[in-house]
Amino acid sequence: MSKLEEIWMTVSVGVLVIFMVIVGYQTYALGMGPPSHKETIDPQKVEQTAPFDNPGLIDLGDNKYELVMTLEAFAFNPGNVEVPVGAEVEFTMTSKDVSHGVQIPGTNVNAMVLPGHIQKITHTFDEPGEYLILCNEYCGTGHQAMFTTITVK
Ligand code: CUA
Repeated sequence: MSKLEEIWMTVSVGVLVIFMVIVGYQTYALGMGPPSHKETIDPQKVEQTAPFDNPGLIDLGDNKYELVMTLEAFAFNPGNVEVPVGAEVEFTMTSKDVSHGVQIPGTNVNAMVLPGHIQKITHTFDEPGEYLILCNEYCGTGHQAMFTTITVK
């Protein structure tokens, strides 16, 4: 092997190692990794575990709401929710069976909802209208029928 080849191989492996050390340090020492696996739940016991034992819209006052929602093939529970204009809604979601997705086109709500994990996402509905909530993660033969709405008025 020529001397130049050796130098470049050493440099490229060195750069790789340096980047891995930097990313590892940021993730584990500085806690800068993306949030994930924060809250878990036994997917077999969703119906017995609070707050999912009582899914629904909770009025927190001050036009803030928590929407506790379970996803299963092929439905959102509860569906067809209604909130006032300007409502800040925190979606608290989990799946009772397989991996689902939740997306509200035209908003920043777009996340995976996995069995065993609690997914939280907050959105403020400033514009009145009927918003589509759809599953964007293929979950079985009824996937395309898995949607509901949230009405803002
Ligand atoms: Cu649920 Cu696709």
